[in-house]
Amino acid sequence: MSIVVTGATGHLGRHVVRNLLEKVPADQVTAVVRDRDRAADLAALGVRIAVADYNAPETFDGLFAAGDRVLLVSGNEFDKGRVRQHTVVIDAAQKAGVALLAYTSAPESLKAALADDHRATEAVLTGSGVPYVLLRNGWYHENYTEQLAPVLEHGAVVQAAGDGRVSSASRADYAAAAVAVLTGEGHENATYELGGDEAWSFAEYAAELSRQTGREIVYTPVSVEAYTGILTGAGVPGPLADVFAGVDASIAKGELVVSTGDLSRLTGRPTTPLSEAVAAALKG
Ligand SMILES: NC(=O)c1ccc[n+]([C@@H]2O[C@H](COP(=O)([O-])OP(=O)(O)OC[C@H]3O[C@@H](n4cnc5c(N)ncnc54)[C@H](OP(=O)(O)O)[C@@H]3O)[C@@H](O)[C@H]2O)c1
Repeated sequence: MSIVVTGATGHLGRHVVRNLLEKVPADQVTAVVRDRDRAADLAALGVRIAVADYNAPETFDGLFAAGDRVLLVSGNEFDKGRVRQHTVVIDAAQKAGVALLAYTSAPESLKAALADDHRATEAVLTGSGVPYVLLRNGWYHENYTEQLAPVLEHGAVVQAAGDGRVSSASRADYAAAAVAVLTGEGHENATYELGGDEAWSFAEYAAELSRQTGREIVYTPVSVEAYTGILTGAGVPGPLADVFAGVDASIAKGELVVSTGDLSRLTGRPTTPLSEAVAAALKG
């Protein structure tokens, strides 16, 4: 029996593996990675490394064992058919008879195109007969705090989100929720709507940046069309720019406010405030 984490060399996956090691011995943890060399730090922690690719079903043959608890971290290859990719993992988990498969999804309230793959994957998973957990992760603070260079350069947060609010949390918070589910009991076939305790607006985010940098940083709301143009002008491919701009349109409609309290309840602590993520990012 192992706790198996896919996407283990990704940002969220690394948090999950490290957090798991505070709860279970390393020999009970398997990190699924695409590139063994990039997993050297994880191997050094004593976890088992398995190499597999969502695009190659045969790489998942025999990877899972009966009774395993699995975290399927959703992929990031938007152009490669993520539902098909995720189905590869779900099929392998079903075949092996895993005890639990938790999937990192998106909030039910999010209607942007970005959520389509998640809804379709959820349907595959819930129809598979595998005991599942839907971790409907809200937005990461880091989506913004790791993109500060242009904001600091221009003294402006430019988004197409109007006065919309976002209840984001840190990746570490979502990772802790995943670990709670993977190491806890009684989560079979549960759905969690996960988000930060505090929702904030981009005007408040700009004010927080001003406070912490001592410089004037303003929020400049723009239209969805203008925002798409700014993104493509900065080199973001058109289809991806549409996806990002679509998320802003959703934020404007309040679709990324999650007020269930599920995240702090699962982790047993308040979620990380946005101000802390800003401070961490400014420190570099
Ligand atoms: N809630 C949010 O705000 C938010 C924001 C961004 C993304 N997401 C979603 O949440 C996921 C985790 O977030 P993150 O920050 O950890 O993203 P990330 O750092 O981009 O990690 C994505 C992980 O998926 C793995 N992966 C992608 N394609 C794969 C494939 N074909 N086969 C096997 N593994 C594959 C990557 O492997 P490598 O390490 O080998 O590249 C990586 O480990 C993302 O992939 C995305 O679906 C959520």
